[in-house]
Amino acid sequence: MLAPQRVKIFVAKRVVLIIGGGIAAYKCLDLIRRLREREVQVRVVMTSAAQHFITPLSVSALTNERVFTNLFDLDDEREIGHIRLARDCDLIVIAPATADLLARMAGGHANDLATSVLLATDKPVLAVPAMNPHMWMNKATQRNVAQLKADGVHVLGPAAGEMAERGEAGVGRLLEVPQIITAVEGLLGGDQTAKTAAPPPPHDVSLASPRQHVLTGRSVLVTAGPTHEPIDPVRYIANRSSGKQGYAIAAAAARLGARVTLVSGPVSLPDPAGVDVVRVVTAAEMLEAAQAALPADIAIFAAAVADWRVAKPKPEKIKKGHGEAGVPKLTLTENPDILKTIAHLKRRRPALVIGFAAETQTLVAHARRKLKRKGADWIVANDVSPGTGIMGGDHNAVHLLSAAGIESWPDMSKDEVAERLMARAAADLSHYLTARTAAE
Ligand SMILES: Cc1cc2nc3c(=O)[nH]c(=O)nc-3n(C[C@H](O)[C@H](O)[C@H](O)COP(=O)(O)O)c2cc1C
Repeated sequence: MLAPQRVKIFVAKRVVLIIGGGIAAYKCLDLIRRLREREVQVRVVMTSAAQHFITPLSVSALTNERVFTNLFDLDDEREIGHIRLARDCDLIVIAPATADLLARMAGGHANDLATSVLLATDKPVLAVPAMNPHMWMNKATQRNVAQLKADGVHVLGPAAGEMAERGEAGVGRLLEVPQIITAVEGLLGGDQTAKTAAPPPPHDVSLASPRQHVLTGRSVLVTAGPTHEPIDPVRYIANRSSGKQGYAIAAAAARLGARVTLVSGPVSLPDPAGVDVVRVVTAAEMLEAAQAALPADIAIFAAAVADWRVAKPKPEKIKKGHGEAGVPKLTLTENPDILKTIAHLKRRRPALVIGFAAETQTLVAHARRKLKRKGADWIVANDVSPGTGIMGGDHNAVHLLSAAGIESWPDMSKDEVAERLMARAAADLSHYLTARTAAE
């Protein structure tokens, strides 16, 4: 008797993609292509606002299916089309999920095809928001997102970066398509391997393998962490910097073979392997230690140095009730500007000087000014507004500014930011060394 044959049944995955009316809607065209490459069947619902940004015609050409736009479509609704759309799929993805769509979902509305499908579905839902940073940070949006998460909706992003609006940057960008694909694959739980390789994300920088010791024989100075400026022997002025990004950069530089000195403010992180760590407390000590670590080929100033210190810290603990009306008066004075000082050195200036800019508003404009004012070669700018989770957290979304322009990197771990930054610094170092030799 013949043994029963095992037949492998390939069941294609089906995604309903709801496209909302945001400026990032055009990115859905690429998202559809990448999903189709993975043999995922994509059916698209477009809100009426979405049709102002991209046309159903281009979407339909890519999906090879008709596009659903109208709740009151007689042909579809004869068979209760919105219920079928909601059920005949494995996953619903909303991209870009607009602030308005998130609000309607959180409120349980069903006043158009998109929200009716979302209310009727029993399938997992992935929302990928994109909007202006102020819209994202608005308490109403944050409340709606918290509600949706509590309701079991998966919310992915948004990322930090430059906005379509001129001069605007912050958290609000649609995640890059490869990141959305990874999340979709995770939620579909199958093997949607691409039949052709997806292109690298925009602004990707080539990574040197950590095994390639491309910085052997080179020296790198990194500063990290906060500084503490004493008020008296027990009190000080500080900030929320954790030092994680600077420590990750020092570790990445060491992995590339560089001799690394890490000048660290007070943090509770272990010394990175193969790195010479100099621990300091105040900005003045940090400057002194940084100067002592020269010469260096690359200097990266990731520390959050206090701008001011108390002019005359008290040698004894200030007693309660001291000063006018029982409150002591603190006179502040400016701290040395470590980045500017080192970047303006005539002799022993590192060939490549990289500063960090942590801002809570108009990030890119501030960073551009900082690049000029401080005399740095590059500025790595990040948005440390409350809610971004960047200060003290494990991820970061940065813009890299140089005379050549601005690159916005997608949200990634601080280790990945460090790897990319050091790979880029190593790749471009010879250019800066030549320029430095010519300048001296
Ligand atoms: C030019 C322009 C760009 C817009 N971009 C966004 C955006 O990126 N994110 C967003 O939430 N709303 C954006 N809006 C507002 C939405 O289009 C508007 O709230 C609309 O009602 C959303 O409808 P929908 O959620 O049904 O797609 C934009 C509006 C205009 C005119």
